[in-house]
Amino acid sequence: MGHKKKSGQEQRNLLNFDNKDHQRVMELESQLRHHNYLYYTLGTMEITDDEYDRLRDELEKLNPENDLLSQVGDRPRPEATKVQHKVEMLSLNKANTFEEVTKWTIGMDDFVVQPKLDGLAVSLYYEKGIYQYAATRGDGRVGEDITENVRYIQDIPAKLNFDATCHIRGEIFMRRSVFDEFAGEFSNPRNAAAGSVKQKDPRVTGERRLNFFAYAAVMENNERERLELLLAEKVPGFGEIDNEYKKMEMVRLLGVEPAQIARSGVEGLPELFEGWDRGRSGEVDFDIDGVVIKVNDLSLQEKMGSTHHHPRWAIAWKFSAQQARTTIKNIRWQVSRTGNLTPVADLETVNLAGANITHSTLHNADEIVRLGVNVGDTVLIERRGDVIPKVIRVLEKGPNDGPVDIPEKCPRCQSGVVKENVFLRCKNQNCSRRLLKKLIHFADVVDLETVGPSLIEKLYDKGILTTPADFFRLSEEDLLPFDKMGEVLASKIVRHIGEKKQITLAKFLTALGITHLGEVMAAAISERLGNLEAIRDANIEDLVSIDGVGEKIAVAVNLELNEKWPVIEDLRSGGVDIEETEPVGPENGVNNVQEKPLAGKSFCITGSLSKPRKYFEDLIRGAGGTIKNISKSVDYLLAGEKGGSKLDKARDWDVAIIDEGELVEMMKAVRN
Ligand code: IVH
Repeated sequence: MGHKKKSGQEQRNLLNFDNKDHQRVMELESQLRHHNYLYYTLGTMEITDDEYDRLRDELEKLNPENDLLSQVGDRPRPEATKVQHKVEMLSLNKANTFEEVTKWTIGMDDFVVQPKLDGLAVSLYYEKGIYQYAATRGDGRVGEDITENVRYIQDIPAKLNFDATCHIRGEIFMRRSVFDEFAGEFSNPRNAAAGSVKQKDPRVTGERRLNFFAYAAVMENNERERLELLLAEKVPGFGEIDNEYKKMEMVRLLGVEPAQIARSGVEGLPELFEGWDRGRSGEVDFDIDGVVIKVNDLSLQEKMGSTHHHPRWAIAWKFSAQQARTTIKNIRWQVSRTGNLTPVADLETVNLAGANITHSTLHNADEIVRLGVNVGDTVLIERRGDVIPKVIRVLEKGPNDGPVDIPEKCPRCQSGVVKENVFLRCKNQNCSRRLLKKLIHFADVVDLETVGPSLIEKLYDKGILTTPADFFRLSEEDLLPFDKMGEVLASKIVRHIGEKKQITLAKFLTALGITHLGEVMAAAISERLGNLEAIRDANIEDLVSIDGVGEKIAVAVNLELNEKWPVIEDLRSGGVDIEETEPVGPENGVNNVQEKPLAGKSFCITGSLSKPRKYFEDLIRGAGGTIKNISKSVDYLLAGEKGGSKLDKARDWDVAIIDEGELVEMMKAVRN
């Protein structure tokens, strides 16, 4: 890259700024330097990513050639050993809307799309297939030497499957699940990955269980041609490496996992973007902040070339900001149905990606200590998908210096709280708040949509609702005294509840709110045992023999169902009809199961399929199969488009991966 540094003054002379711009550029430079230093060197931050991007964008508009723009990145620490990149590691141009993307795509219609991984960019160098060294991206020209640390990252092989000489580039990251296991040690997965790689003792890097996905391979042209011949010998029909997709396929064959990749025309881009955006609040087990769209044809890539800052053949389409800054007005402790005391921060209302946010969870007492947060602090909050936003870090301390008061008593029933792991718990089964939450849970599970949480709370406070059976005893007279309640609405509510007396066994069992028992396991137990009496009388051994049911759940069901029996009788005498099912299982229904095409086979589902997931679950269950979470013992992973971490795990564990077509074939094959 022949980009020669010019001093700020020279640049200004060249561009002949008017004075106001000049002033602003200087301000922006100084602010960006300050934030770069905080972020990259000290690992802290005073502003949101969005605010940072705005400063950068403004500078880019006023002074596109400004050195600072090409410098952003992780400036190597003074004490680190430095490595000069043979081929510069560029940045990416970014777009925030599909409109901006289409401006860039003009005249082209063959792209690949990968997630934009939010980790630490690195370059690995292999010579004749043997790992030589690794460096962080740094400022793009010079990075830090991390050769030894990288040896401890399992995804990065010491030897490739072929004797290739190339730079493999990609992102080192920490999976969210791993980050969670290190509860509280790091502020976010990206910092965790960066900090872990830059350890003096590389064994510490190993303990952090980092991962790596590749997104680029840089090699000389004759090397590419040599590899084509080599690969063609081993993989018949592999052919020329003339597009990006093929190149990533090559990386995979070399033995390094590339970031998931999809080919797409312009029209398909929004769907891929949205799929990944949805994925980050669910299946995807690593942080991403957008997608990267690349021109597929390598010769076109070459023709388009690069600026000093980014390749012209790629663009990052960023997800909308899910972070905002706000202040904490109050911290209160919420009591859940199971007795957990969760700290909640009431916030100065702030808009986050179109929604008004008024409060945020602080998870638990340890998290408050880790964040060092208190009332009056200005904080950075973040929201993923639909979940409640969380406080990421303190941006500015407020007037309250000391620690937050951790309650010793339940704020609702005043009984003493017990600390269990990181949670504070109210152990009083009759805590008024817990009883209320149980009623809300019951109504939610059995679909009593007309009585929402706030109405339930009012009825509970008046003593009209004290046990689930009371829902079915509600009369219009009970409801009429409440605000905004007319006769029409009151009679509608009563009628609606009356229509909900038929409840499936699985729903009913879930609605009871037995500790640890969620919908999926309740369904598994119901399916196997068929009726409430059988479940009540089952011993722990019977229960744990059901797929997925662990000891904790078994003990809770065994104990609590007996305790709740009076509640159940009460509901039944009030006309609730719990639907029984035909029990299936080893003793009761062996034949019944065995005849079915998927009998004895377990399935996990991932990715987006042509129909709702529920459809496939029902299909599989109906054919005698079971649905499980991903584990080594699962027989098949049914994978749609963009399967996330489950797909990775299935590959790791050699679980058979099938698509919809294969599932249908399986169902036919056995039947014939
Ligand atoms: S391609 C020549 N693909 O984003 C540029 N980059 O903001 C090649 N990044 O420096 C980059 N995921 O560290 C590419 N799937 C992906 C990526 C990705 C994350 C990072 C990369 C780059 C930065 C630019």
